Amino acid sequence: MNLQDLIGMPNAASTVAQDVDELYLFILVLSVISFVGIIGFMLWYVVKYRQQSENDKTSPMHHNTQLEIWWSVIPSVLLVVIFIWGFRGWMDMQVPPDDSMEIRVTARQWSWQFDYPRDGIVSDKLVVPANKPIKLIMSASDVIHSFYVPEFRVKKDVLPGRYSVVWFEALEPGTYNVFCTEYCGKDHSRMITRVEVLSDDDYQQWIDSGGGLGDLPMHELGAIFFQRYGCNQCHSIDGAANTGPTFQGLWGRDEQFTDGSSAPVDENYIRESILYPGNKVVKGYQNKMPSFKGKIKDKQLDAIIEYIKSIEQ
Ligand code: CUA
Repeated sequence: MNLQDLIGMPNAASTVAQDVDELYLFILVLSVISFVGIIGFMLWYVVKYRQQSENDKTSPMHHNTQLEIWWSVIPSVLLVVIFIWGFRGWMDMQVPPDDSMEIRVTARQWSWQFDYPRDGIVSDKLVVPANKPIKLIMSASDVIHSFYVPEFRVKKDVLPGRYSVVWFEALEPGTYNVFCTEYCGKDHSRMITRVEVLSDDDYQQWIDSGGGLGDLPMHELGAIFFQRYGCNQCHSIDGAANTGPTFQGLWGRDEQFTDGSSAPVDENYIRESILYPGNKVVKGYQNKMPSFKGKIKDKQLDAIIEYIKSIEQ
């Protein structure tokens, strides 16, 4: 039987969990010993010194300096041990290691969103590699929520208007629950998602495939990437002229280019324009667009194409 079964804790799946549980067990055992000892002595004294006759007098003794020193010093030493042990563990959990991988967490009524800034991925579940410290930078877009993974012994409030940070390192691949532990409204109890801990290879595969596109329809995901990659800074969707052509009315028309040629706007044209913006420059515009080759995943590109299709023509 392992420690977690003994004290009724969930599996210890992060690097800090075992230490947290050992301290918990230490405090639990101390408390039980103190409780049994104090109550036991009290009961024994109640019986031993009960009034046995009319003539019983109370004990003349009312002071014992040595005893009082001992029952002050021993608990003080134990308290210092608990403090140092707890403080070291707490510092450990507060300060993410320098080589942590950063993931942004957004909590809202009533869902979680995880953003991978380096890979341009948005996911509704948290996917991480095993044996790698993960730093979560969290904020809420409405009310206070709280991020909690019992198996990791990690819990931290997620607040609107500021960032809170929490980190963990998962020990091995597996799937764990994420709960919201701050009452945040009607569906608080359903604000649940998962952490999927993968091996390095599986994780890399997940990233390369564009990662957890979640359950959103493709064109809605495309709208997210349209903002994320900054397309909206140069391309309007309402017909207004900008640094680049508007996306309104774009799909399906014949586009005229500066070199006098033209081509229909279809999937391949959009794809080419995102990866090699200089190949076909629309008449009346200069090529100011950077190439997104190597920066955008195929699935994201597909989603953006679907988004452009979905814009009211
Ligand atoms: Cu979010 Cu409770």
